[in-house]
Amino acid sequence: MSYVAAIDQGTTSSRCIVFDASGSIVAVAQREHRQIFPRPGWVEHDAEEIWEAVRAVVAEAVAGRDLVAVGITNQRETTLVWDRATGRPVANAIVWQDTRTDEQLRRFDAAFGEKAFKERTGLPLAPYFAGSKLAWLLDHVDGLRDRADRGEVLFGTMDSWLIWKLTGRHLTDVTNASRTLLMNLETLDWDPEILAAVGIPAAMLPEIRSSAEVYGEVTDGPLAGVPLASALGDQQAALFGQTCFAPGEAKCTYGTGSFLLLNTGTEPVTSQHGLLTTVGYRIGEQPAVYALEGSIAVTGSLIQWLRDNLGLIKSAPEVEELARSVPDNGGCYLVPAFSGLFAPHWRSDARGVLVGLTGYVNRGHLARAALEATGWQTREVVDAMNADGRTPLAELRVDGGMTRNDLLMQFLADVLQVPVIRPTVAETTCLGAAYAAGLAVGFWPDTDALRGNWQQDASWQPDRPSDDVERELGQWRKAVERTLNWA
Ligand code: G3P
Repeated sequence: MSYVAAIDQGTTSSRCIVFDASGSIVAVAQREHRQIFPRPGWVEHDAEEIWEAVRAVVAEAVAGRDLVAVGITNQRETTLVWDRATGRPVANAIVWQDTRTDEQLRRFDAAFGEKAFKERTGLPLAPYFAGSKLAWLLDHVDGLRDRADRGEVLFGTMDSWLIWKLTGRHLTDVTNASRTLLMNLETLDWDPEILAAVGIPAAMLPEIRSSAEVYGEVTDGPLAGVPLASALGDQQAALFGQTCFAPGEAKCTYGTGSFLLLNTGTEPVTSQHGLLTTVGYRIGEQPAVYALEGSIAVTGSLIQWLRDNLGLIKSAPEVEELARSVPDNGGCYLVPAFSGLFAPHWRSDARGVLVGLTGYVNRGHLARAALEATGWQTREVVDAMNADGRTPLAELRVDGGMTRNDLLMQFLADVLQVPVIRPTVAETTCLGAAYAAGLAVGFWPDTDALRGNWQQDASWQPDRPSDDVERELGQWRKAVERTLNWA
């Protein structure tokens, strides 16, 4: 039997999953890595530690299996610079949640203008994206700018880091490049005018390739000789794994953060309501498929925060039981603006709030408010999509760890007032990377064959009067206002 493997280099862990031709999981291995918080608002990863984790999970999952291809999917935007000669990172990677780059963004704005960035890259000027993180490193690591000009150091998001480690090539794919503020959405290449305006040396940038093609063969280790044949940012990979191949199809992945992507076809669509325009995927030489994205920074990581920082629960799944110990949120709302607010607000000055407290509120209400925050944030993103004049969402395909939480999934169906549907293979991020790699080497003939693999596992129907939902939405909006202008 032959298989396809996918490496998912995520925010909190790295995984390797092996799939068979039906898209079923054959083997899984996972390893966590450290979250480094040097100061409030800063988040870093040790890229060498991540590489060790990737090597370990690959060795464990792949062991002795006949692989026709391997694909990569990854946490997006997390920014790394390494030395071309030694392969050593020059500093820790700056993680997508990090908010340290206000100064660099003011410079970007002065040099090129927020509007021009939005038009060319589809993105607002926010610390979330890789460009200002790279500028920060160039500003703060001694001598880095000169070394970059001489081509001695290389920039990459985690896809590039892994492609380089596995094949020795310095490449990225269009979906990851579309998260940098440096790629032009029309040409699908680095925008020379933006690079010049913000002072990013072109010599340090990877070559941009499609999401599904053979980048090279893996040079050594358990994958030696296997074609590395796909790379997609994790949210785009999930769109692919959910087989959202037609315009109008959407999915939301509930992980550390949550990301709702809507396939908009082969033309980029600009949002007037705070959504991103991004590349969904590009298969080889075929035209790129674009997506509108509503990015939510903090969802699953709020539950981890309840566990690790407050000690409210011992394990993440316990949050459901605790939330079920009360019938409602007791009047309290928790807005987890830990990294500012992402879509549709894009306010890096926002910080988290807990409002509506009375002596009546107990641990159960807090757990409930934390789960509801995920529902309300999704609702804000869906409202923005509808306001952009998209055909109203008829159903939402979901995946990711939080979709095992039945209480949350029902709340989501209630606040969105549409059915919420989960597929049998909930590991859609890895599946998407495997599908793209398998397509590139002819393991699967076309996307229709992939659609045939998709099966529904569970669904939740709206079961709450809409005026009740609207009243609570008003409360949530008031809570969101309280987060603004804080930092
Ligand atoms: O844009 C950030 C996103 O790619 C992170 O995803 O699943 O690692 O939280 P995840």
